[in-house]
Amino acid sequence: MNNGTTTSGLTFDVQLSAQRRTPQERAQLLDNPGFGNVFTDHMVTIAYEEGKGWYDARLEPYGPLTLDPATAALHYAQEIFEGLKAYRHPGGEVACFRPEANAARFNRSARRMAMPELPEELFLGAIETLLAADAQWIPTQPNSSLYLRPFMFATDVGLGVNNPSRSYRFVLIASPSGPYFSGGITPVTVWLSEDYTRAAPGGTGEAKFAGNYAASFLAQAQAVDQGCDQVVWLDAVEHRWVEEMGGMNLFFVFGSGDDARLLTPALTGTLLPGITRDSLLTLAPELGFAIEEGRLSTDEWRRAAEAGELTEVFACGTAAVITPVGRVKSRTGEFTMGDGGPGPVTMGLREELVALQYGTRPDTHGWVRTFG
Ligand code: PLP
Ligand code: COI
Repeated sequence: MNNGTTTSGLTFDVQLSAQRRTPQERAQLLDNPGFGNVFTDHMVTIAYEEGKGWYDARLEPYGPLTLDPATAALHYAQEIFEGLKAYRHPGGEVACFRPEANAARFNRSARRMAMPELPEELFLGAIETLLAADAQWIPTQPNSSLYLRPFMFATDVGLGVNNPSRSYRFVLIASPSGPYFSGGITPVTVWLSEDYTRAAPGGTGEAKFAGNYAASFLAQAQAVDQGCDQVVWLDAVEHRWVEEMGGMNLFFVFGSGDDARLLTPALTGTLLPGITRDSLLTLAPELGFAIEEGRLSTDEWRRAAEAGELTEVFACGTAAVITPVGRVKSRTGEFTMGDGGPGPVTMGLREELVALQYGTRPDTHGWVRTFG
């Protein structure tokens, strides 16, 4: 493989692993990978230092990072990440869905966490370099893909907390993955979290910041205790406006057939601006559905579902794609969406989105980027 120079002048130094898994070992691992459990043979790393900028871009064998115990990220959680997928298209091309949008969001998260921005060409160059080495790890079973996890963390050594770190490391790893929920696209049951808050106005909710996820695990454990798959977060002030799920945005479908209309919670600064959400805001009107960014209270959610006005609810995100929500539970009881099964609007949108991602429908939006 050739080393490529980016327009920022950095060249990815390529060190191929001497311990790449054999085709047989890879085939075995790709057989039933689950989500986020199996990793490819390589990773990309790029270092940053204030005054010097980004340097030392390399592809190297996947393996442990050696860190000083006083590394800033381990103490003060200056860490951000992204999630996107690589797909094998029918003609054999390797493609990602809107990776430029992930690069842009990564930099918005970086600004919020007082971290340096990574030029888009380095973000995309890292993906290209890793895919050139590890494209055979893209699974080809239905609903499978290579999940890409770019992240960046503070590497200053020392416990002072007065200033952000002056050095950082960017890393990209890749994980061949099947569906995020083990049930595939069977509807999930969700728990309304009235005890905990994910994000408050002025906080870090719209950044893809590791700490947001750390803060969510207790509520997620509570959801599981209640027999639910996922937690639904409410606003921090009144605890009544629906925001999003642990790693997905939400859409509500009112009515049915040609009269169906969709509502998704508006981006108030406390939600993660999902790229899937944004794509659906374009795709839904193209399929003839009215769509609105607004707000929905938990009382209205329940009333409209029980009255039969709210017919479907679904969650969407890179990992979860589009997953129907069948049932909602809270301290005050539980209720069902429609007949509890996947609804036609949900499944129609899912089919459209997946066809674009997997390259079985022409990309009329300029969303697909091929590599290699
Ligand atoms: N909300 C949260 C908290 C997330 O972690 C994610 C996943 O990235 C999403 C929503 C959906 O975002 P996207 O569609 O860009 O994957
Ligand atoms: C994603 O969809 O990429 C996510 O980040 C969700 C979850 C795996 C954290």
